[in-house]
Amino acid sequence: MTGADVLDFPDGVALSETLRMMGQARAMRRLRPDPVPDELVRALVWAGTRAASPNNTQLWRFVVVREAEQRAAIGGTMEEFLSWIDALGEPADEHDAHIRAEARHLVANVAQAPVLIFVCAEHAYPERGPDPRYLWSVVNTASQNILVAARALGLGATLTMMQVRNEQSVREVLGLPENVQIGTMIPVGWPDRAFGPARRLPLDDVVHLERWQEGS
Ligand SMILES: Cc1cc2nc3c(=O)[nH]c(=O)nc-3n(C[C@H](O)[C@H](O)[C@H](O)COP(=O)(O)O)c2cc1C
Repeated sequence: MTGADVLDFPDGVALSETLRMMGQARAMRRLRPDPVPDELVRALVWAGTRAASPNNTQLWRFVVVREAEQRAAIGGTMEEFLSWIDALGEPADEHDAHIRAEARHLVANVAQAPVLIFVCAEHAYPERGPDPRYLWSVVNTASQNILVAARALGLGATLTMMQVRNEQSVREVLGLPENVQIGTMIPVGWPDRAFGPARRLPLDDVVHLERWQEGS
């Protein structure tokens, strides 16, 4: 099995555009402030709603924030997250330092991202006794579809959980009802950096064929 950044297909088989986009749907934390047309934002949310969900319950709910005032209010809730990042101590290595600096940049500049998509979900499945694992599953399927769709449309996006340090304040800004949980917060905009391949572990490091093999 190959673990290359670009998937090798057998000779004569074209790499599908969808797989190519999946291979490049990386975190894009540097965004230009230029507006994103509503049709493209709708396309992203549409992609989110095409995802799989338990029993097709489609528990996901999306809050799309575009107004400057509302974005500023979200930005204002991020102080705690910034202090949390600053208190993390020394980064483990250069890569860690880079991700941390970029994440910090995104938090500090969140109000400048032209669109913030909050992928939320209703805590409502199974009906007889809602289990949070289902709620989080739909957040994840929908969020990843949005990331791939953004890449395909040439938009930058990052799956974040920036709301976790200040969740109550974010909930208040969004006016969320009690049974709706925030899963991810995806800032979206035109990229201010080049897209590159998603660097991931080789398949051989993460795949076990037929049964788990220790040390393979
Ligand atoms: C559940 C989850 C939470 C994340 N939270 C944040 C976050 O709060 N801030 C951030 O900048 N990136 C966040 N990320 C993005 C990851 O850092 C990113 O996917 C990872 O470093 C791989 O980077 P790449 O996509 O550029 O290759 C999160 C990703 C996931 C899946």
